[in-house]
Amino acid sequence: MVILLSSWRDARLPLRVVDAPNKKDLPGDVSETRALLTGGDYIAGRNLATVVYLALHMGRPILLEGEAGVGKTEIAKVLAATLGRDLIRLQCFEGLDLASAAYEWNFPRQMVAIRIAEAEGATGDIGKGLYSREFLTERPLLSALEQHANGPPVLLIDEIDRADEPFEAFLLELLSDFQISIPELGTIKAEEPPIVVITSNRTREVHDALRRRCLYHWVDYPSQETEARIVALKAPDIADDLRDQLVAFIHKLREQDLFKRPGVAEAIDWANALTQLDVVTLTPEILNDTLGSLLKYQDDIAKVQGSEAARLLAEIQAAA
Ligand SMILES: Nc1ncnc2c1ncn2[C@@H]1O[C@H](COP(=O)(O)OP(=O)(O)OP(=O)(O)O)[C@@H](O)[C@H]1O
Ligand SMILES: [Mg+2]
Repeated sequence: MVILLSSWRDARLPLRVVDAPNKKDLPGDVSETRALLTGGDYIAGRNLATVVYLALHMGRPILLEGEAGVGKTEIAKVLAATLGRDLIRLQCFEGLDLASAAYEWNFPRQMVAIRIAEAEGATGDIGKGLYSREFLTERPLLSALEQHANGPPVLLIDEIDRADEPFEAFLLELLSDFQISIPELGTIKAEEPPIVVITSNRTREVHDALRRRCLYHWVDYPSQETEARIVALKAPDIADDLRDQLVAFIHKLREQDLFKRPGVAEAIDWANALTQLDVVTLTPEILNDTLGSLLKYQDDIAKVQGSEAARLLAEIQAAA
C-alpha cells in the first residue's frame, strides 16, 4: 500500500478526450453528464450519471462503493480528464496519517531558518513566523483546497476502507466545509470546493457521519450489453463474436459461488489475453489455459477448471 506522493499533484491522464479545453464548463444536465463520461471512454448508466451531475452542481462529495474492478477509481480519472481538471489522488492505507495525507511542518527548513536568524544575530522571538505557509509541506488534501489554474481539481480519496477510523473522522471537516484546521496556523478553506470522489471496497463499513456528507452510489457489475460495450472500447482488437462469448461466460461465472468474482477489469484483461493468443472462439481448452486472467484465487480456479468450465461454456453456446 503506497501513497502516491510523487504523482498526485498533476496527474492529467492520457485518456482520449474529444474536446479538452483548459477548463470545461460543467455538464448542463444528466444526459450531458453521461455524454461527458462517454467522451472519456466511461460507460455510465443514468443513475450514476445523475449522482455525478448532482455532485458537480451541488458541490457534494461522491461516495462510490462496489466490488473490486467495477470502475470506481476510473470515474474520478475520467472526470478529471474530461473536465480538464487536475487529478489529486490520495491512496488510503492502514496507518495513513495527517502528515502523509494533509500537511506536514518542514522541520529541516525551520531549523535552517533558525540557524540563519541566529547567525544574523537576530534578537527577539526567532520562533515567530516558523509556523507560516512558507514552512508547510502540502500533501494531497491540502493541495486540493488550493486554487488550480484549470479550476477546482478532482480529489480522489481511493479505498477509504483501508484507512483507520480516526482518519475518517479527520475527513469530516474537509468534506462538509472544504477546509482544514491547522492548530499552529489557523483554518485553510477552499475558495471553490474540489470535486471529491471517495471509493470503498467495503473491507469495513465506512462511518455514517462520512456517508451523510456524500452522495452515495453502489457501482454494480454492468449488464451483459454494457459490459460488451466496455470491452469493445477498452480491448478494441477482439472480434465481436468472441467478445460476446467472453462477456456471456463472465456473467455465468459471476453467478457461481466464488471467493472473488471477476470484475470488468478482468473482462478487459481476458479480452486482451485472448487477442494476444489469436483465439477466434472459446473452447474448454482455451478456458482452462486462460482462467488465470479471470480468477485470482487457486480455490476458485480449482472449482471452475475442467468439467465446470466446459459445462458453463456449453450453456452459453446453447443460449447463443
Ligand atoms: N463503466 C465502465 N466504462 C469503461 N471502463 C470501465 C467501466 N467500468 C470499469 N471499467 C474499466 O475497468 C477497469 C477497472 O476499473 P477501476 O480500476 O476503476 O475499478 P475499481 O472499482 O476502482 O477496482 P478496485 O476496487 O480493484 O480498485 C479500468 O480499466 C476501467 O477502465
Ligand atoms: Mg480502484
